[in-house]
Amino acid sequence: MRENPKRHPEVAAATEGSQERDSSATVSPQNDGKVRWIRKDLLSLEELSKEEIELILKTAESFKEISTRDVKKVPALRGKTVANLFFEPSTRTRTSFEVAAKRLSADIINFSSAGSSTSKGESLTDTAKNIEAMNVDTIVMRHPSSGSAEYLARSIRAGVINAGDGIHEHPTQGLLDIFTMRERKKKIEGLKVCLVGDILHSRVARSNIWGLTKLGAKVRVCGPPTLIPAKIEELGVEVFYDVDEAVKDQDVLNILRIQLERQKGAFFPSIREYAAEYGISVERMKKAKKDVIIMHPGPINRGVELAAEVADGAQSVILEQVTNGVAVRMAVLFHTTMVER
Ligand code: CP
Repeated sequence: MRENPKRHPEVAAATEGSQERDSSATVSPQNDGKVRWIRKDLLSLEELSKEEIELILKTAESFKEISTRDVKKVPALRGKTVANLFFEPSTRTRTSFEVAAKRLSADIINFSSAGSSTSKGESLTDTAKNIEAMNVDTIVMRHPSSGSAEYLARSIRAGVINAGDGIHEHPTQGLLDIFTMRERKKKIEGLKVCLVGDILHSRVARSNIWGLTKLGAKVRVCGPPTLIPAKIEELGVEVFYDVDEAVKDQDVLNILRIQLERQKGAFFPSIREYAAEYGISVERMKKAKKDVIIMHPGPINRGVELAAEVADGAQSVILEQVTNGVAVRMAVLFHTTMVER
């Protein structure tokens, strides 16, 4: 196996199947100053310390190289089983977790609410307990209700990774966004990041805000007043309503989708007016820094929050986010699944 100088020692031991692997490495906190992962679940970035976030990012850096090999597989989670439990549609997150689990040699089960017994009235806990009874180690769950991942984590012994719970958080999206910003801009501390769009209904915005502010970034949010949550300044962000002002001097623009499926009223007059007032167009990009990077978690509504020319332009790192998502999810699956229960 090729030696990777960036490889984290704990990951190297696990991924190379070394007999010398310290079995306590990811388990218990010891008083030696080293950060060890001790959570069976990843529910939010709000609950993580700066050090825990950095540990995931460092592990993801080590894992990224695996996806560039001819044989994209290591035995780190051989014998473990991961279940994807998705109660909402997903393209990127679900596939990314599946690819990540397979690259770590875990077995993966895909479960979606369509065609399952949830349509016959089975509860979330009963569904999860039945999946757990098949000795699944980790459940990756997306669900429309905020707090559902935490509820499930308390109900079962298996690990739970939140793949998006209502408007609450989408922690692995936050982590992959931060990973991509750091890879491109070589720092997070002092980085100027502007989140533009439907902040009110965005779990991605909340995870970005928690993660970025913990690592010392300067975060601003921008959108129509009706789509900015009350008291969001208390999370340590600046609020802008004028996008032409908001994008000035920023290192990163993370553009968020208008979540029509979660909106229970008219938050702006029309999609056309939203695009004109807040959409990131080629013209609007002239107000931003020359080296600004454009991010978007997907799915993109081209021509609404983001012009196609900008989404596909030289400053866009949207597909790099997708690539990095696999490495970040490998890191999250590795740490949470290897914890002793
Ligand atoms: N970014 C994101 O969560 O995309 P999906 O809805 O396709 O998973």
